[in-house]
Amino acid sequence: MKQAIIMAAGKGTRMQSELPKVMHKVCQKTMVEHLIDQSKLAGATRVVTVVGYGHEIIEEAMKDKTEFALQEPQLGTGHAVMQAKQCENEDGETLVINGDCPCLTSETLTSLTEVLKGNTKMVILTAVLEDPSAYGRVVRDENGYVTKIIEFKDCTEEEKKINEINTGIYAFDNKTLFSNLTDIQNKNAQSEYYITDLVEILNRKGIQVGAVQAMDNDEVAGVNDKVELAKANQTMQKRINEYWMKQGVTLINPDATYIGADVEIGKETTIYPNVTIEGKSSIGAGTTILPNSFLVNAKIGNKCTIDSSRISDSEVKDECTIGPFAHLRMHSVVDSKNRIGNFVEFKNTNFGYDSRCAHLTYIGDSDVGSKVNIGCGVVTVNYDGKNKFRTVIKDGAFIGSNVNLIAPVTVGENAVVAAGSTATKDVPAGDMAIARCRQENKPGYGTKYKNK
Ligand code: UD1
Ligand code: CA
Repeated sequence: MKQAIIMAAGKGTRMQSELPKVMHKVCQKTMVEHLIDQSKLAGATRVVTVVGYGHEIIEEAMKDKTEFALQEPQLGTGHAVMQAKQCENEDGETLVINGDCPCLTSETLTSLTEVLKGNTKMVILTAVLEDPSAYGRVVRDENGYVTKIIEFKDCTEEEKKINEINTGIYAFDNKTLFSNLTDIQNKNAQSEYYITDLVEILNRKGIQVGAVQAMDNDEVAGVNDKVELAKANQTMQKRINEYWMKQGVTLINPDATYIGADVEIGKETTIYPNVTIEGKSSIGAGTTILPNSFLVNAKIGNKCTIDSSRISDSEVKDECTIGPFAHLRMHSVVDSKNRIGNFVEFKNTNFGYDSRCAHLTYIGDSDVGSKVNIGCGVVTVNYDGKNKFRTVIKDGAFIGSNVNLIAPVTVGENAVVAAGSTATKDVPAGDMAIARCRQENKPGYGTKYKNK
């Protein structure tokens, strides 16, 4: 059995935020969720997140993804692991992970457990840094085993010169971990229980502590403030963008393309600069997303073109052209082969196959059939100030320009609503509704008016 314990109880004072540190997002996904997902990818069948500061917020957000252990008060990383009592009696391996290293990958976690064998019952992920700053320093013996980790605040000037640091990511033999935790004491500069003290405790018992040096320092960088958060975003964005490019997605300028961690993109799709795709969005194959589009929880089909548009919680099926400057929101579904043009807003609307809505229009709370043509400047009047009502436009209907459809109203199959009409009644199938004043022409008045 493999378990993971994620230490996430600290406030993260240097973030200057009320939000618990691990709830800050990297590529639109919280740090803690990244680590939970990577732990599972590395084979952890049980993930326990140790929470304390702001625990309600983390518990609510992650309740479907992890178990929790409450640490109150927070007396250090060793004390944090002690709280994960539900893991105490398990056999097998346990990953222990600082909650503030969001870019960590499952491959690196796996490389740690591979070293856990024989008499090596703890393995530490280390990194060699040019500027080891405030990290804990790693001391090794002549065989490469770790004999000690010294916290920065407890370092002598000489020890501060060591440039191999502890990343705060470990693999343990679970029984060894829990049977030695209680030996940790808090006699140090911060009066905390350090998980890192286990190194000396195990060494005293003749148990070896191994180390794996990280291949990529950016992957293991801790996030303690907003500057480091931005760096983690860059690292993660680069990784995500390179992944999609290797899957056959064309990014015109990957440095200016923002793709969330949970987004899916099909082959031969091209994404222009200044595009942001967030949440559980998916983009089909052969689609083009032109600049300045912002997609959140958007499902886009194959061979579409999306131009400078905002799409949230909505779906666009295959071969549609959307925008420039369209706004589709709140569970709208646009069927295939549609053209939705400039300054068109859809809210909570189903728009049928091969229809058109090309300019300056608001369609809200509506069910529109297939082969419907919606003219320029059409408004579904769905709200009377108190309640919302639906508009139904059936297959083949033609809605002229500048029409108001006062909901609830139904326009039947192949019916026509003449331009400039304000329709307050249903229009039967095949009929034409004209609801506007008749025009009167006054001979010569135009010239007279201009010369006045
Ligand atoms: C820790 C390590 C240090 C290492 C560094 C890497 C210890 C004693 N030191 O130091 O060797 O170089 O990480 O980033 O472990 N946490 C709890 N409960 C607590 C204290 C911390 O859950 O009581 C959590 C925090 O929320 C955080 C993680 O543990 O996610 C690390 O805590 P932090 O205080 O940032 O540790 P460092 O001082 O950075
Ligand atoms: Ca830290």
